Order: sequence, then C-alpha cells, then structure tokens
Amino acid sequence: MNAARNGGTAVVPGSYDPVTFGHLDIIGRAANVFDNVIVGVVNQPVRKVKTVFTAEERVAFIESEVAEYGNVQVKPFDTLLVDFAREHGAKAIVKGLRAISDFEYEFEMNQLNRKMAPDIESMYMMAAPEFSFLSSSGVKELAMFGGDLSGLVPDPVAARLQEELKR
Ligand code: PNS
Repeated sequence: MNAARNGGTAVVPGSYDPVTFGHLDIIGRAANVFDNVIVGVVNQPVRKVKTVFTAEERVAFIESEVAEYGNVQVKPFDTLLVDFAREHGAKAIVKGLRAISDFEYEFEMNQLNRKMAPDIESMYMMAAPEFSFLSSSGVKELAMFGGDLSGLVPDPVAARLQEELKR
C-alpha cells in the first residue's frame, strides 16, 4: 500500500531504547506516506537516563526490522532534532501519540521545535489501539522481572533485553 507517496522526506525520531512494535508501526505507516523516512536514533550521552543499549545497537535492531520497506534509513544523531531534519532535507518530523499523557510533552517539544524551525512541520500519528499501552520503559520493566515480551518487541530485541536486565 505505497502507491501514492509524495511527501518528500520525514524524520521519525526517538530514543528507541529499545524499539517496540508500536514504534515499528509508526515507522511503517510513515514509509507509506513519505518518499523517504529517516529514523533518527538519539545518541546523546549527556541525557539524564542512561540507555540500556548503545546507539549502534539500537540502530541495528531497527535496521533489521525495516529492510522490507526500501525507503527507510536509520541514523544516530546527537544534534538538535531540527538540525538533523534539515541536514537530511526533511520537511516533516513524524511522531506517534498514544494517549493524552503523551500530549503535554509533545506539545512542549512541538513549540520548541517550531520556534527554531518553522519550516519543518511536526506531524502526529495516533498509535494503533493494540499498541496504545506499549512503551520502551514498560517493556524494560517487564524484562527485569522475566515477563513475556512476545508481541511487544521483535524476538532478537527481547532476547538481548532479557540478557541485559533479567534479575
Ligand atoms: O521521547 P524520546 O524518544 O526520548 O524523544 C526523543 C526526541 C528527540 C524525539 C525528543 O527529545 C524531541 O523531540 N526533542 C526535541 C529537542 C531536541 O532537539 N533535543 C536534542 C536531541 S539529541
């Protein structure tokens, strides 16, 4: 279902620590609308919360899941998101929204990004209902206590998470 793509390039950014099926759903839907999708993986060591996986590993997890699309590239970035988008000629930043609780944070990010780069449009896709409860932090908590991760993250991600986090 990708006959009428003409939206140029979009960036789909995130920490992706780790990527979930919810993220992959948004990336796939963006790939159906835009000519090119750049998945931007935050590689920012000064962030408050240390990531479980390195940027290289987070990029590799996503790359092996998006190969089927042909118009999706995955790249780490450690600059302002709008600068990363500009560098790749993106007209749009695409993000997923799950619930009202996501709105406040995204609203703030939207205002900041818009102030810096009014020419880049932020666009939001509603999470599919089956993924509206799904978050990387929830998945990490389940992994810590040996919970079943099937249907939440790809199998290789689940295996690595369990290695890293299982108590
Ligand atoms: O919720 P996430 O996945 O950690 O979001 C990451 C990102 C980059 C999408 C979000 O922090 C954002 O929109 N930031 C805009 C401000 C910015 O450019 N920060 C620098 C990131 S390296």
